[in-house]
Amino acid sequence: MTAPRILRAPAVQALLIQLLALLPTAALSFALESFGAEPTILTAALIQGLLAMAITWKLGLARWWRPIQLLFPIAVLAASALHLPPWIFLALFLILLGWYWSTFRTQVPYYPSNEAVWRAVEDMLPRDKPLRVIDIGSGLGGMAMHLAKARPLAQVEGIELAPVPWLVSRLRARLSGSRARFVRGDYEKLDFGDYDLVFAYLSPAAMPGLWAKAKAEMQNSSLLVSYEFEIPAGQSVKTILTTEGGPLLYSWQF
Ligand SMILES: C[S@@+](CC[C@H](N)C(=O)[O-])C[C@H]1O[C@@H](n2cnc3c(N)ncnc32)[C@H](O)[C@@H]1O
Repeated sequence: MTAPRILRAPAVQALLIQLLALLPTAALSFALESFGAEPTILTAALIQGLLAMAITWKLGLARWWRPIQLLFPIAVLAASALHLPPWIFLALFLILLGWYWSTFRTQVPYYPSNEAVWRAVEDMLPRDKPLRVIDIGSGLGGMAMHLAKARPLAQVEGIELAPVPWLVSRLRARLSGSRARFVRGDYEKLDFGDYDLVFAYLSPAAMPGLWAKAKAEMQNSSLLVSYEFEIPAGQSVKTILTTEGGPLLYSWQF
């Protein structure tokens, strides 16, 4: 039996691990007290962090969760010591929610590609054909706006799940008069068969699903292009180095 999707999200698992560590932390703190030590709230936060880190390691979550789990209780303690008004936490939470949205599910946070990558993708597009191009997970929209400007005949779109980056891309396109069109939504619901080039800058976690979708839907010599992250099966057709010492740009033709 497989766990529900929400429980498979690493951020939810990390939170559950913190909850799981609460009881042994309380038991250890009481034990210390009964042996004559006087554990402070900071000691308890340290025990909690160490226990959560150990469970995280034992359960095999990605390595970067270990320091996060260790420091989380101490960070909570530090934040509460600042005695900030509660609305600040709510406002911060809402901003981060709008920015990262379902990163806990997709495991694809926002980080931008750069102009060298945009130019390399531009070079893959002929000037004289009315192609359809999409940046799946378009972030703040830089790639799509660049392509829309460089290839006037192409119809360029971006699709983005997180509301704040999507809104920023819409505003940027409107203010700069860009032809690029930005949609808020999940690329998994698109038909990749509608596009001549699909650009992705996602994460290793997203690549197996992306490859399966592309293989099922893409055809007619269309191109799947991924910056930095390769298909796990290693079936890359072509690689381009866009910046010296930087990640590769991979492309597959269907
Ligand atoms: C690494 S950023 C890349 C941004 C942009 N493509 C660039 O090159 O600068 C990945 C973006 O994909 C978005 N994303 C992740 N999963 C998605 C999905 N299923 N549908 C649409 N957007 C998604 C994230 O919110 C994030 O903004």
